[in-house]
Amino acid sequence: MPAEKDKLCAAAVRIDGQLRAYLSSNAGNCCYGIPRRYEPIRGRAARVDGEARFPGVTASTAWSAELAPDTELAPEVRARLAAAWTTAARMEHASIAAFANLSLRLLALGAPPELVAATHTAALDEIEHARLAFQLASAYAGTPIAPAPFADAARMSITMDLAELARETLLDGCINETVAAFEAELASDTAADPCVAHTLRRIADDEKRHAQLAWQILAWCVRTSPRPLLADLRAALPVTTTTTATGPDLAIHGVLSDDTLANLRSDVLRDVVAPCLEALA
Ligand SMILES: [Fe+2]
Ligand SMILES: [Fe+2]
Repeated sequence: MPAEKDKLCAAAVRIDGQLRAYLSSNAGNCCYGIPRRYEPIRGRAARVDGEARFPGVTASTAWSAELAPDTELAPEVRARLAAAWTTAARMEHASIAAFANLSLRLLALGAPPELVAATHTAALDEIEHARLAFQLASAYAGTPIAPAPFADAARMSITMDLAELARETLLDGCINETVAAFEAELASDTAADPCVAHTLRRIADDEKRHAQLAWQILAWCVRTSPRPLLADLRAALPVTTTTTATGPDLAIHGVLSDDTLANLRSDVLRDVVAPCLEALA
């Protein structure tokens, strides 16, 4: 059937369970956006062919930082904290590559200097976040942990597609960086160890700026694009689901449960992302 922009497609209910807007970009055919699976990544993702990649880890003190958290904890708690901070550190490290790639894409698409400069500043922030997170992981593990060579960073593409940049900015920046900011802030409030609380507060402040930058980049994409982008962006908004928490809550150690994070993502999508996206119209 012919596409009718900004109307809802009832056929979508049979396929993915909910009404979605028609898109007008498919040669007049009926189509609607199926959101790609929402990946709860902490901040910007380093993507190769659309898939998020992360570095492996190796035993080294090369990325250590000046941090000494309280490690007088039960072995089981220490092991879980080491695993959680190693995952976070790999995500923070991948964000360095993501911002490096983003700056090249912005340059290729003719973005203004303030967006390019803020992107480089954000990459420097992520280097520090990675060092802090690897240090916490190492302290809890009782052995040094650092990123292994990240070959996938050299395989990231520099697309000239403004619509693709806008969609990735919405998902990886406007959503994931906003969630990362709230996650770090909430975790800082619940962490009993001042060293961990202070680290999380610093990360939260940086991630707030990264989220603001994402919205500035998205606004620039919408202004610059020769064709309207908002319908595609609305259709790309992910649907989140709640999860069931496993294991004892580690919030007192600055690591939020899966349940808390799932609720946080839903709140951010409803209360921040959706209204901000409509404000770009
Ligand atoms: Fe970060
Ligand atoms: Fe970030």
